[in-house]
Amino acid sequence: MTPRDTIGDPELLALADRIAADTGFDIRQYKERPLKRRLAVRMRACQLSTYREYAERLARDPSEYGPLWDALTINVTGFYRNPETYAAIRERVFPVLVSEATAGIIQIWSAGCSSGEEPYSVAMLWKEYCAAHPVRCAVRITATDIDAASLRRAQAGLYGRASFSELPPGLEARYFAAAGEERRLDPGIMAMVEFRRAELMEPAPFRNVDLILCRNALIYFSRVAQEAVFGHFAAALRPRGFLVLGKVETLLGQTKERFQPFDLKERIYRLNAGSPGTPCRTN
Ligand SMILES: C[S@@+](CC[C@H](N)C(=O)[O-])C[C@H]1O[C@@H](n2cnc3c(N)ncnc32)[C@H](O)[C@@H]1O
Repeated sequence: MTPRDTIGDPELLALADRIAADTGFDIRQYKERPLKRRLAVRMRACQLSTYREYAERLARDPSEYGPLWDALTINVTGFYRNPETYAAIRERVFPVLVSEATAGIIQIWSAGCSSGEEPYSVAMLWKEYCAAHPVRCAVRITATDIDAASLRRAQAGLYGRASFSELPPGLEARYFAAAGEERRLDPGIMAMVEFRRAELMEPAPFRNVDLILCRNALIYFSRVAQEAVFGHFAAALRPRGFLVLGKVETLLGQTKERFQPFDLKERIYRLNAGSPGTPCRTN
C-alpha cells in the first residue's frame, strides 16, 4: 500500500496530483478526513464546490497556493517546546553523541522545523552544553520544512512573544535582543543552522545523521505515510542514531522493530545497530 491508496475519491486524487506536480508537496500523505476539512475551508473561501474546480483555480491562479499552505500545514511551534524533552537531550543524548563522535562532527536534522524555533533551540542547548562540559566536537544542524514562508521567517530570526512561552528566561536574555515589539535572535546562534525546503515524504536528503528531531509534524499523516517517513529516517540515521518524536507521536508498524526505545516518556528512540537502510540520496 502506498500513501495514495489512502485517498479513495478520484477527483481528490487528481487535485493531489496537480498539487504534487506544481509544488512537490504530496498531500496524499494526510488522513483523508482532516485533509478534506482543510481543503473545504479554501474551497468555501474561493466559492467553489468541487475538487475539479479547485484544481482548475490553482492552475489559473498559483497565488492560491499561499492560503492553501496556511490551511494545510499547521505551523504552531515555540522555543524549547516541551522543555523536558530538551532536558533529556541535554542530559542523556548529548553525552552519548559526544562520546561517539569519532569524526568530530555531530549531525543534527530538525525535520518539519516550521519557523525555526526548534533547530535554534537545539543550537542554544548545544551552546549551553559546551559551556558546561569539555567538548571536542562540533555540531552541524540542518532544518527542513515544506513551507517556504515558514523557512523565510526562520531565516529572518525575528520572533514575537508567542514563541517564548517555554523558553527559560535566562536564555531569552542571553540570546535575544529587543527589536521593537519583537526579539532578534543572536547571529551566532543563527549561523549554526542551515535551512532548506524538503518534503518529508521524499527520501531523506541526508545520511549518517546522529540525531533527528521530527516533532508534531506527522500527527495528521496517514499511518502508511508515517511508516514511509520513519523508513526515510532509518535510512538517514547512522547506526544507533537518535530519533525524537513529538509527545503525541509514536513509531508504527514494522518501523518499530528498527528502533529501540531510549526514553519513551520523551519519545526518544535509537536506530538498531544493524538496521538496513532504504536507499537515499547523498549530500
Ligand atoms: C506543528 S509544526 C512543528 C514544528 C516543530 N517541529 C515543533 O514541534 O515545534 C509542523 C511543521 O511540519 C511541516 N510539514 C507538514 N507536512 C510536511 C511535509 N510533508 N514535509 C515537510 N514538512 C511538513 C509544516 O509545514 C509545519 O511547519
